[in-house]
Amino acid sequence: MYSRIIGTGKYLPDRVLSNLDLEKTLDTSDEWIQSRTGIKRRHIAAENQATSDLAYEAARVAIDDAGLSPHDIDLILVGTATPDLIFPNVACLVQKKLGIKGMAAFSLEAACSGFVYALNIADHFIRSGQASRALVIGAECMSRIVDWTDRETCVLFGDGAGAVVLEKGDKPGIIGSKLAADGSRGDLLRASTGITDTENEGKSPTIQMKGNEVFKLAVKTLGSIVDEILEENQLTKDAIDWLVPHQANFRIIQATARRLDMPMERVVLTVQDHGNTSAASVPMALDTAIRDGRIQRGHLLLLEAFGGGFTWGANLVRF
Ligand code: ACO
Repeated sequence: MYSRIIGTGKYLPDRVLSNLDLEKTLDTSDEWIQSRTGIKRRHIAAENQATSDLAYEAARVAIDDAGLSPHDIDLILVGTATPDLIFPNVACLVQKKLGIKGMAAFSLEAACSGFVYALNIADHFIRSGQASRALVIGAECMSRIVDWTDRETCVLFGDGAGAVVLEKGDKPGIIGSKLAADGSRGDLLRASTGITDTENEGKSPTIQMKGNEVFKLAVKTLGSIVDEILEENQLTKDAIDWLVPHQANFRIIQATARRLDMPMERVVLTVQDHGNTSAASVPMALDTAIRDGRIQRGHLLLLEAFGGGFTWGANLVRF
């Protein structure tokens, strides 16, 4: 038994915040942001929108795209670092908005690697016969946890949600996944506080990042994981039709593409329009390239991501 992607969707909030808009409130420039990161603009959730609202919109599109009704779904998984509440988890909130119940629904925290992790878990549920049609979502409101006075981080992030529907089948589908983490490097990229962080009681969390070190570790870990996943699945670099990377920084994406000897024409890029949307970035990039016709049925895709934790992972997918 295997799982395969039968529908995708994304949702971006209406408000667009450009680099030029940021120039008005910060000591920064469009030129600096574009040359260091590739980002031109990002979307920002409205005050009355939470992560589950974005996730729900993306889920609706993915379920429609799969030709299904919400009642056909028997597992809901959400990767997010910015849940509406501690509980109910975002997957349960989406379940309620979809008007369905009964199936398992849970969220997982792996920062920007959340979707890649969730896809691997959903694939295991389907392969083991525990689920037949899984809704897998990456959704974030990163704008709620950035310090809008910190030019080193706030220019990088955006909000959005992406979703896929996985269905069981007799051919892969998800060919293989590889997940990894190194908790000892958690200090590189973290939220400044949380619920039971006794040292910072009463404060709101904001993103803290050692940008240069994250950059170097991301290039290194992504480089080795793409080699490992190809080797484990006895595939060569030239078999990959599309690289669908986490959209954090154009230069990190370029380095991974170089490692794979892939021309940038075969890399899906959305970072310029979305910024870093954390767990939402890979499913939104995937949906973008499917809808504009670049990714076709039968193509071999390599999805990869890295994020706070430090976490990283990859999925090999026959679309
Ligand atoms: N505008 C203008 N100047 C800036 C800005 C800004 N927005 N931000 C920093 N600078 C300045 C710095 O203060 C520094 O000035 P100085 O030389 O006078 O001290 C100068 O620009 C260079 O700063 P660096 O940090 O060395 O710049 P770098 O080239 O490393 O780029 C960046 C910084 C873009 C953050 C890069 O390191 C990077 O992309 N790192 C990876 C980050 C990443 O991918 N994070 C997402 C992780 S995913 C997740 O889980 C959330």
